[in-house]
Amino acid sequence: MTLPLLIDTDPGIDDALALLLALRSPECSVEAITTVAGNVPVERCTLNALRVLEAVGPARVPPVGRGADKPLTRTLVSATHVHGDDGLGNLAEIREADGSLRYPKPRVSLSPLDGPDLILDTIDRFPGELVVVAIGPLTNLALALQRDPRRMAQLRRVVIMGGAVGVPGNVTPVAEFNFYVDPEAAAQVLASGLPIELVPLDVTRNAILPRSVLQQRLAACPDPVSRFIADTTQRGFQFGEEIGEGGITLHDPVALGIALVPSLTYFESLHVAVECEGALTRGMSVADRRSIPVGRKAPATCRVARWLRAADFRDLFLSRLCPGSS
Ligand code: RIB
Ligand code: CA
Repeated sequence: MTLPLLIDTDPGIDDALALLLALRSPECSVEAITTVAGNVPVERCTLNALRVLEAVGPARVPPVGRGADKPLTRTLVSATHVHGDDGLGNLAEIREADGSLRYPKPRVSLSPLDGPDLILDTIDRFPGELVVVAIGPLTNLALALQRDPRRMAQLRRVVIMGGAVGVPGNVTPVAEFNFYVDPEAAAQVLASGLPIELVPLDVTRNAILPRSVLQQRLAACPDPVSRFIADTTQRGFQFGEEIGEGGITLHDPVALGIALVPSLTYFESLHVAVECEGALTRGMSVADRRSIPVGRKAPATCRVARWLRAADFRDLFLSRLCPGSS
């Protein structure tokens, strides 16, 4: 059965790769995309989501809802140093030989609904079936919960890229970016009782894509989408190689892959909460992994992905992004 997906995203290079994976996977239908301030301001995130749609040109273009332009209470902390000023490796600046822009402003129009309302509207279209894949700060999901928790309770699954359970953070020693940017939203979503599948850095750090591997696969399927992928990942590889990660860490594509193929991981039900008070611990995901009787600790708030079948994920990712290559 085809999974109806809503992707809540802050594109972002790895977000764009996750969107491409979803748009090129038969297991799912992308029914809506909502954007949220994170890697770059929400206006650019929204433009970037439209750019990905224009690059792929799906038979049916899903509605795109512009979401929150800042966290619930905090000032936005972005990641332009990772994703470029435009959020997609500055591909918006690329010009052809005749001086024209390779990627002019996209023509795809926006939904009249904002991000949180598009989430709620899409739930109405797929009650009990919709799977949300959240790959940016959780501001939109928190706002949708505030507006209508009853409708949100009809979500079938909520797959979230976020947190760091048994490994260091990537923004501070203890916090992962999506939870760090809006810790209040992450805390509210994790405490909501929604059917959450958390995909933390523990798992996504096992999916590093080397530049040479992608270049080889793209060379075997030369088309406009491959050129888009090559153009947007240049900066991502540069950043990954500069910090010694050896390539692009596919945080968001891993979360999308697990949404499509849950057997890529195994889950452990844990009580996970998000620290909002600490100066040093802002956005820290605190998981209760104590080996004490279940009745003596707080009930689980989510299922946490604890492992990744990395080779199978890489095969899935590359075969969908570069069909026909091997
Ligand atoms: O920590 C990784 C997450 O933060 C990813 O979603 C990436 O796109 C950034 O938003
Ligand atoms: Ca993201």
